[in-house]
Amino acid sequence: MANTSKLQAKPLRKLIAGNWKMNGLSKDIGEIKRLHTLLKKTPVQADIAICPPATLLVPMAQVTRGSDIRLGGQDCHVAQSGAHTGDISAAMIKNTGARYVIIGHSERRTDHNETNAMVAQKMEAAHNAGLIAIMCLGETLKERKSGKALAIIGGQLRGSLAKTATAKNTVIAYEPVWAIGTGLVPTNAEIMAAHLHLRKNLVKKLGVEGAKTRILYGGSVKPSNAEEILNLVNVDGALVGGASLKASDFIQIIRSVG
Ligand code: PGA
Repeated sequence: MANTSKLQAKPLRKLIAGNWKMNGLSKDIGEIKRLHTLLKKTPVQADIAICPPATLLVPMAQVTRGSDIRLGGQDCHVAQSGAHTGDISAAMIKNTGARYVIIGHSERRTDHNETNAMVAQKMEAAHNAGLIAIMCLGETLKERKSGKALAIIGGQLRGSLAKTATAKNTVIAYEPVWAIGTGLVPTNAEIMAAHLHLRKNLVKKLGVEGAKTRILYGGSVKPSNAEEILNLVNVDGALVGGASLKASDFIQIIRSVG
């Protein structure tokens, strides 16, 4: 195992990404306009992304043009095109002007039985289309209680990482399933232990690229806890669900980046 003191030479530029999940109609585009206006007043030293439902990618691309807000999809198919009714390819997401795509979110792993192998294929599809993949992983409460959290997330990372992964085209999001949408958050020590474990695995798999790959924390991030979480070692940003839906909340999380 690599020397952990050398795992991250300098802090990485943070990414604050909003995951709107299955929320948002055309009337909600106003939230992005508000965010754009707030950011113009006080620019921040972080990368910012919103991942709306696919139906809003094109209209949001229009209102975010010229801003620091980047867009992302929430899933992509493994194929670039073809007979897959209801699915969206990475090339289609890229075609809207988006830069990112979330893959392997626990809601998809559960609702759509996505396996690590499928997530790795989706990551490769995202890379081939020129997108940055935000790959989610995290343990369930049962797995945490049984002391298996680190083993589980290490396995998910190794199994879901495509061979095309680099620090530039890949972001990891550690999202404990039990913390998503529940208001529950792991302790700082638990977050740091998880992120260090992921960092070690990334370095083992990708070498120096692994030290430069961003690892986000996700799960009940809100304005009141963002600063504390974002200051933890090896926390290179946040993936925010509920609190990204309102510009007034999301901007506070973005501004928590020190
Ligand atoms: P939450 O969701 O912030 O609403 O807990 C995070 C996520 O699922 O990405």
